[in-house]
Amino acid sequence: MRSPQVRPAEGLPSRVTIYEVGVRDGLQNEKTIVPLDVKAEFVRHLEDAGVGVIETTSFVSPKWVPQLADAADLLAELGESGRVRTRPVLVPNPKGLDRAIEAGVSSIAVFGSATETFAARNLNNTLDGQFDMFGPVVERAKAEGMWVRCYVSMCFGDPWEGDVAPEQVVSVARRLMDLGCDELSIGDTIGVGTPGQVEAVLDGLLGAGIDLDRIAVHFHDTYGQALSNTLASLRKGVSIVDSSAGGLGGCPYAKSATGNLATEDLVWMLHGLGIETGIDLEKLVETSMWMAERLGRPSSSAVVRALGARG
Ligand code: HMG
Ligand code: MG
Repeated sequence: MRSPQVRPAEGLPSRVTIYEVGVRDGLQNEKTIVPLDVKAEFVRHLEDAGVGVIETTSFVSPKWVPQLADAADLLAELGESGRVRTRPVLVPNPKGLDRAIEAGVSSIAVFGSATETFAARNLNNTLDGQFDMFGPVVERAKAEGMWVRCYVSMCFGDPWEGDVAPEQVVSVARRLMDLGCDELSIGDTIGVGTPGQVEAVLDGLLGAGIDLDRIAVHFHDTYGQALSNTLASLRKGVSIVDSSAGGLGGCPYAKSATGNLATEDLVWMLHGLGIETGIDLEKLVETSMWMAERLGRPSSSAVVRALGARG
């Protein structure tokens, strides 16, 4: 299989941690519920391709996201490999944390909103109320020795409220990190952001005292900006990037969101820049082609389509 010609560029990290969200962000959005054995197989293929961090599922309300109602069963099926620190799960509230603890997970992610409307639509809460919901979750998770990530969604634009000011994102991010989270992921939920905005938000976060090694970026590719925004982030010193195998994804509570930055497209760029990821691109492409067959439609990743077509 073809691989990119390697030519490093100045001012970039030597290694990037890819935080794979295809199994969670991808499959939460499928119209038909993906069978449990396919989800488990997907995780195992990703592991075999060298993907280090895999967000496996969500302990959210099964009424809100029926696609991931089998969270506990999936973790039981994965056994020990699903319970390690590098297999986080989404948890919104104490009930979700109870379920996650019972399933034996050792890392979780809470997910906040930079806007009032998305807090209502995604969490049935208010912007201020979300901190009251997450506070006890983070506190107890840390007391249990868990690693905790927090997301902020709608950082670069909101389908209902329009523009989102970087100051608003920074304020929500700071409040979430003050709850005791270990890592922050900045989400372009509907994929509208451009590199200047990314720089402004990252400058704001650094100015608010959040260290670069704790910041991840999470770009959906709705407007085709995800890779440019990632490069802008890397140039700022970010080295944790969220992406989804085959470009799966979206958010059921933001209809204008399409898939995440495809992991294969990201890996092609990173390997071309001589940046280590630990991922075997050929195996990853095979995984996404296998998954595309299960889902009955071609992958949206340009790299999967290009390499898949070459055979
Ligand atoms: P609510 O309906 O207000 O919850 O939902 P409630 O506390 O009023 O409880 C109502 C019922 O749900 C009760 O059951 C609870 O026990 C049950 P009943 O008494 O009626 O039988 N319940 C639960 N059951 C299982 N697990 C739970 C749970 N919680 C309550 N955890 C809630 C509030 C936050 C739960 C709901 O709004 C929810 O689950 N939201 C999650 C939506 C979601 O998963 N969205 C997608 C993930 S976010 C995303 O994709 C963005 C991201 O990728 C970053 C980016 O792109 O920007 C992360
Ligand atoms: Mg997302």
